[in-house]
Amino acid sequence: MAEERKQPQTKQPQPKKLTIDEMATFCKRKGFVYQNSEIYGGMSGFFDYGPLGVELKNNIKHEWWKAHVQSRQDVVGIDGSIITHPKVWEASGHVANFTDIMAKCGKCGNSVRADHIVEDKAKVSTTGLYAPQLQELIFKHKVKCPRCGTDALKIAQPFNLMFKTTVGPSEGKEAEAYLRPETAQLIFANFKLVQENARMKLPFGIAQIGKAFRNEISPRDFLFRCREFEQMEIEYFVHPHKVENCPYVDEFSSYEINVLTSEMQKKGGSEHKKMKIKEMLDKKLILPWHAYWLAFEHNWFVGLGAKSENLRIRQHVKEEKSHYATDTWDLEYNFPFGWKELEGISNRSDYDLQQHIKASGKDLGYFDPETSAKVVPHVVAEPSLGVDRTFLVFLFDAYEYDSKRENIVLHLNPKLAPIKVAVFPLLSNKEELVTAAKKIYDELKEDFSCLYDEAGSIGKRYARMDEAGTPFCVTIDFDSLAKHDVTIRDRDSTKQARVKIKELPNILWQLLSGKIDFGNLH
Ligand code: GAP
Repeated sequence: MAEERKQPQTKQPQPKKLTIDEMATFCKRKGFVYQNSEIYGGMSGFFDYGPLGVELKNNIKHEWWKAHVQSRQDVVGIDGSIITHPKVWEASGHVANFTDIMAKCGKCGNSVRADHIVEDKAKVSTTGLYAPQLQELIFKHKVKCPRCGTDALKIAQPFNLMFKTTVGPSEGKEAEAYLRPETAQLIFANFKLVQENARMKLPFGIAQIGKAFRNEISPRDFLFRCREFEQMEIEYFVHPHKVENCPYVDEFSSYEINVLTSEMQKKGGSEHKKMKIKEMLDKKLILPWHAYWLAFEHNWFVGLGAKSENLRIRQHVKEEKSHYATDTWDLEYNFPFGWKELEGISNRSDYDLQQHIKASGKDLGYFDPETSAKVVPHVVAEPSLGVDRTFLVFLFDAYEYDSKRENIVLHLNPKLAPIKVAVFPLLSNKEELVTAAKKIYDELKEDFSCLYDEAGSIGKRYARMDEAGTPFCVTIDFDSLAKHDVTIRDRDSTKQARVKIKELPNILWQLLSGKIDFGNLH
């Protein structure tokens, strides 16, 4: 039996949460994220990551890959192309089904996403509602066009979210292609090659990180709903006769999560309840593989600093499930605008492989060495996570206004921090201090993402680094020259310790990887 995992605890205080607009302002001011093409008025739904943002985003992707691919023998990765054969999207059902219901204003021609406008203006849930029900709510609650203010909003044709492009110099139908709306289909289309090349035996997963594009009708809430974003996805394949046998689920038996089942929602409830994974399995609320992956994902977030009280899992009600899903649970986060999907984890059964077998006429079956029979594996769980939403979650849960310091402190996990170490000479007008500090910086930057700063008082330099989430600052003073040591200052406690220069890289490495606590330095 698998050994049980320890549940990570979040210990930081719960400060007042920023609004999403305040977070966007903070991100722009510090160089995390900018509106795309801002100098030309911006482009809705597109964002550029700045110097701190690109580092944080890369660190998130690195930690995800490390936990989901590098440290698992049962998962391998791919990197598929963004434009792929249009037949892939016909087979997957995206051409026919990947649509949102749109409402169009008969007066000014403005188009809006029907469910969003009804939820915003009428304050009622639209989960699982179809076009006629949405039209009824628009009439009943006199929902007005947000642009011209008239009552002329009417449900229009469903709007397909895939971006179209043409490939090559011709322009006809045969040159049409789509930008991928999810990375998942590249995994299914390459399933057979990957399984054979990497000699994978069921159960196993194929992972991918990459861009996805959706022509959202109304992109909004900053990075939450964009038109270009990134996904980190796994398709986890299991033998069709063993979909209920998960050898790893015991690792999470006593793991506790906030849970909202479809049954609780059907009874009108919207409040989650704390449950252990074992209780969910005993009550047959979920299949073991599905439970395992939900707990694994939750544990990954909390282990990197997300607050478990801000996370919950919610089962889709029947009407909201995607065309391919037999069961879907979302890992949700308590965003400033409510509990919303952070990661979708669906059971896709053998839907996708069967569709591609039918459409391509190719044998994508798996040869089972035990029975010498060909089978089509089932995807029992598809952890599908957006990088950009993850970026927001780690920023929200790290952000604190420290009234003692009168300054913002980003308590980012050191593994995610964009800058790991900042190096300062105590005074910038003392050449010997500047020379010594630059020498230390030059050595450290070989191994760590580092910043050298000599501008302003030490207090101002600490404050800048607290706002950037830099876990450690190193200061070189006059004693350093005589005693060959420096001061390290800890972002979270503001405590300081003296360490020998020759031991500095090793101590920093241990602090950053969590091998020692700052308190051990005294
Ligand atoms: N392969 C399954 C799939 O793509 P999804 O629930 O549509 O499922 C998965 O998307 C994740 O991708 C979401 O949970 C979210 O984190 C992210 N995502 C989806 N649409 C997004 C958008 N417009 N902007 C930012 N992230 C998005």
